[in-house]
Amino acid sequence: IRKKVGSSLIEYIVLRDYEIRPWYTSPFPEHINQNKIVFICEFCLKYMTSRYTFYRHQLKCLTFRPPGNEIYRDGKLSVWEIDGRENVIYCQNLCLLAKCFINSKTLYYDVEPFLFYILTEREDEENLTHQNSAKFHFVGYFSKEKFNSNDYNLSCILTLPIYQRKGYGQFLMEFSYLLSQKESKLGTPEKPLSDLGLLTYRTYWKIQCAEILLQLKDNTKYQPSHNDRDAVEQVTLNDIAKLTGMIPTDVVFGLEQLQVLYRHKTRTLSSLNDFNYIIQVDSWKRIENIYKTWSSKTYPRVKHDKLLWEPII
Ligand code: COA
Ligand code: NA
Repeated sequence: IRKKVGSSLIEYIVLRDYEIRPWYTSPFPEHINQNKIVFICEFCLKYMTSRYTFYRHQLKCLTFRPPGNEIYRDGKLSVWEIDGRENVIYCQNLCLLAKCFINSKTLYYDVEPFLFYILTEREDEENLTHQNSAKFHFVGYFSKEKFNSNDYNLSCILTLPIYQRKGYGQFLMEFSYLLSQKESKLGTPEKPLSDLGLLTYRTYWKIQCAEILLQLKDNTKYQPSHNDRDAVEQVTLNDIAKLTGMIPTDVVFGLEQLQVLYRHKTRTLSSLNDFNYIIQVDSWKRIENIYKTWSSKTYPRVKHDKLLWEPII
């Protein structure tokens, strides 16, 4: 159950042609929170309280895209990398918008330690009057701490409610793991996750594991020695971690949901250790069905070769 707390009066946010109801209170300045309607420019994320100002702003704000570098493009989808240090106002506005849908206490003004990855959907204008008339509509984003001593590869994630349940959250998650893989690291999202964050990650981890198991099944290196029952017995958590970019704990979550993970009862080591686990598929048909059902939704996938990005070493 979503509950608005605090003193905000905002009933809805106007963004593009949509009216979006906030789920939670966000620490906008007091004079903003006292309005029933807040208008937000989807390109620069400036917030305004009068329809007239918003209308005037739209005539002037002709960038039609987020700031930062476009580091990924595939068809209509693009991802933009923005440094919190370079675009402070944009990133603060982004966090304020995100807070409308996240019920946790976080800092909203200290954006400099973070990188922000914005997902946009391109709309090409039919009648091109000038070359840059494509519009890059804001879909969602995730943030990532530039330096952290944990394995965190994602700090906060949002899909605008008007775009939810279309696979964009999974796309952003897949993207965060791709960046980790490019850095030769394993990653995991920062905890605690929201309910929706956890639901979405659980689906992500499960499908990733199903996909890898099905790929390994056809790989000679992992061919069954005895029968089909223990076809992937030799595969370890660490193998799957390397192939997915996921830390072994999250691989465990994924495999448990697929019901293919067994623990050796005889061992008592408490640490996550490959020797404690056996991956055993009882029914490939079941795994195939899970994967096929998911694939048939044709949600967008990250294409690794479309990423134009190198880690800073
Ligand atoms: N109820 C049940 N399952 C859900 C769900 C929901 N509301 N949202 C996601 N899932 C699961 C489902 O398995 C879903 O597949 P399906 O839609 O085919 O059933 C799968 O995750 C994929 O979801 P997807 O469409 O990729 O997620 P999304 O684009 O809707 O974004 C969030 C997910 C978490 C980013 C989005 O809900 C959000 O922005 N929430 C508010 C912000 C937040 O809580 N962020 C996380 C903490 S920082
Ligand atoms: Na859906």
